[in-house]
Amino acid sequence: MSNKQYKIALIKGDGIGPEIVDEAIKVLDAIASVENLEFEYDDYLMGGCAVDVFDNPLPADTISGALNSDAILFGAIGGPQYDSLPKEKRPETGLLKMRKALNVFANIRPAVIFDELTTASPLKEEVVKGVNLVVVRELTGGIYFGEPREKNESQAFNTMIYTREEIERIAKVAFEQAMKRDKKVTSVDKANVLEVSQFWREIVEEVSKNYPEVKLEHMYVDNAAMQLIRNPKQFDVILTGNIFGDILSDAASMVVGSIGLLPSASVGGKVGVYEPIHGSAPDIAGQGIANPIATIMSASMMLRDLGELSAANRIEYGIRAVLKDGYRTKDLSSFDAKEVVSTSEMGSLIAEYATK
Ligand code: IPM
Ligand code: MN
Repeated sequence: MSNKQYKIALIKGDGIGPEIVDEAIKVLDAIASVENLEFEYDDYLMGGCAVDVFDNPLPADTISGALNSDAILFGAIGGPQYDSLPKEKRPETGLLKMRKALNVFANIRPAVIFDELTTASPLKEEVVKGVNLVVVRELTGGIYFGEPREKNESQAFNTMIYTREEIERIAKVAFEQAMKRDKKVTSVDKANVLEVSQFWREIVEEVSKNYPEVKLEHMYVDNAAMQLIRNPKQFDVILTGNIFGDILSDAASMVVGSIGLLPSASVGGKVGVYEPIHGSAPDIAGQGIANPIATIMSASMMLRDLGELSAANRIEYGIRAVLKDGYRTKDLSSFDAKEVVSTSEMGSLIAEYATK
């Protein structure tokens, strides 16, 4: 049987980005050999490293390379040395432009607690045990991209805007996710104050008519933030806009213990972007202590979307087994650790367990 080949664009980025993506590659290559797969990797620059080389956080070559790949594996971008740059040169601007250029309007951020790590959550064990939710965040619209926007000497403003089409397509993604899960969608908005949210609610209601099996509820974002901490198990699919989703997914990450564990997939365009939800953590870069699990898990989401279910399952199994055996990176060292391992050791262990 000939190997199935995939072209993966790597955007390692800044800070801990390169270290964690390297571990995902290690795991992918180990799996490739047992699953008859072949991965061809091409590196592209984006973020601060691209500013350093090209004076541009998103070189054209990166976009074309990304579009010519089967999937994009992305680390993280940003760092304090770029914070004072003008907006068009900031690493974050590169990321936002890339999302827009690739039209990846749907950001899927699952927050699932590992049984082995229920004590890692700052919340009580009985509150978090069994949490399994997914945030479906709209990613290429809303206040992040709305025009007009301006900052001048006397005032500054942004525009939160959603079109019917934008809401329809992201709502559809959320309901489709719910159909594969517990059939519940919680749409999060601020409809008691914002017209854009009232409109969001109406359109989500319309889309829900096509999914009679899915229970739909609406929740104001302030209440949702509270409910996420009070009783996270009530959630199955959280459907929300760009900025609310950004905030709620960081909160959800702490519910399950560590921001170093949460993967994400940004989809809806020709190719998907797979990345951890955490940032570039420049303070710990290069020390070999970053947790690569979120990125390795993102590689598993990538394989799933590519249709390689068995390979994807192997990774998830590998991660669980390694955690079960008590291996922990430094961020999780105080939670039932048998042995504290480095970033690279964690990658090797997962590669080994995943190919057993
Ligand atoms: C994220 C990040 C980005 C966002 C930043 C880096 C622009 O926080 O992916 O959640 O706000 O979307
Ligand atoms: Mn964020």
